[in-house]
Formats: sequence, structure tokens, C-alpha cells
Amino acid sequence: MLDWYAGHARSLPWRVPPGGERPAGHAYRVWLSEVMLQQTTVAAVRPRWEAWVARWPTVEDLASASDEEIMAAWAGLGYYARARNLVKAARAVAERGGFPQSEAGLRELPGLGDYTAAAIAAIAFGEDAVPVDANVERVVARLFAVDEPLPKARKAIRAEAATIWPEGRAGDFVQAAMDLGATICTARDPKCLLCPVREHCEGYRTGEPERFPVKPPR
Ligand code: ADE
Repeated sequence: MLDWYAGHARSLPWRVPPGGERPAGHAYRVWLSEVMLQQTTVAAVRPRWEAWVARWPTVEDLASASDEEIMAAWAGLGYYARARNLVKAARAVAERGGFPQSEAGLRELPGLGDYTAAAIAAIAFGEDAVPVDANVERVVARLFAVDEPLPKARKAIRAEAATIWPEGRAGDFVQAAMDLGATICTARDPKCLLCPVREHCEGYRTGEPERFPVKPPR
């Protein structure tokens, strides 16, 4: 996965290249990208993210903007609760003098959920956290042919993910899984012949990788 990512990582404005140094202020940029990407596509997020950091380059800048300015800047991205939580967390971060540097500390912030805390910890701080978004969930469910249906399967998927998480490389690894899920291990018509980890994939071996993750019974 890491070798594949070194050659195939998508170039995204909030990212450092595979294995790259993380600049000061990276946590703010990663956090903002994760919040925007929660319900919005990468293509739609990219220009909005760039405009946002041009206007508010640091979390302190954002914390001192008014609610009205921030809600107006969010217009069109949808799910406005995200913007309200963004303001809440930004002000808490500014008040305490910066982002907490651990997943546990990040979880304590108001308006910041467990997934986002894990994503910032792994991507911005290099902590061995395991953020599981829908792409990672699909990749791992297929690798291990997790037979349980969602949402019950989430516990098993997380446990399986933890078994392959490389120590010290969580940030690159999770972004590799995200890119693999977005480009090759897609929900429909996965391109298994291009997949760098096909040989390790139980889902591929079953001949029906699309069956995973198993949908909830209806
Ligand atoms: N989706 C959510 N977080 C992402 C990230 N860091 N890179 C690409 N896609 C993502």
C-alpha cells in the first residue's frame, strides 16, 4: 500500500507528499479538509478549501471571524451543522493555544468527532491512530472478506484494520487506503486487476469483491 501510494498519491492541496515533512499549521489544514470532505466530493472541496485557507490561513484567524462570515463562506457546501461545529472547535483550539497533539486530546474538543480526531492524529501528527471513513471501510472489508453486514461489521472492520496498520506510517497508510478506495477499490466495478494488494485480498479471492462490505439486511 505504501509503495503504491509513493507512486500514485493524488496531489491534493491539504496534503504533504508521501513521506514528506509536515509544516507548522498542518493540523488546521488537515482538519478543515476532513470536515469539508465528510459530505462533499474531493472535486467540489478543492477550490472551497483553497479559498478558505486564503481567507483564514490559521485556526486563530478562523476563531476570530464572526459566525455570520463563516456561515456565509460555507454557503453551497451543505450540512451547515459542520460549519457550526467548525466554529466551536476553532474557538476552543484558539483559546487553549493550539490543537491538542494527540487523538485523545483532540476527542475532547467540542464539535470534533471521533473519526476527525483520528484523522488529524494520524495525518497531521503521525500518531498510530486508525481513522476509518467509507473508503477505508470498503478496502478493509474486502481485504478480509468481512462477512457481517454493516453497521454491525464496523467493529470487526476496525479490528482488522488495526492488524495491518504500519507503525509510524499511519498518515500515509490511511491516505493510501482512501486513494485506493476512491480510484481502484471503488464501490461499483472495482478495478482489481490494477490493485497493488490484490494478492492479499480475500474479497478478490471470493470472485465477488463488490459484495463487501455486506449491506445491512432490509
Ligand atoms: N477523504 C477524507 N479524507 C481524505 C484525505 N485526507 N484524502 C483524500 N480523501 C479524503
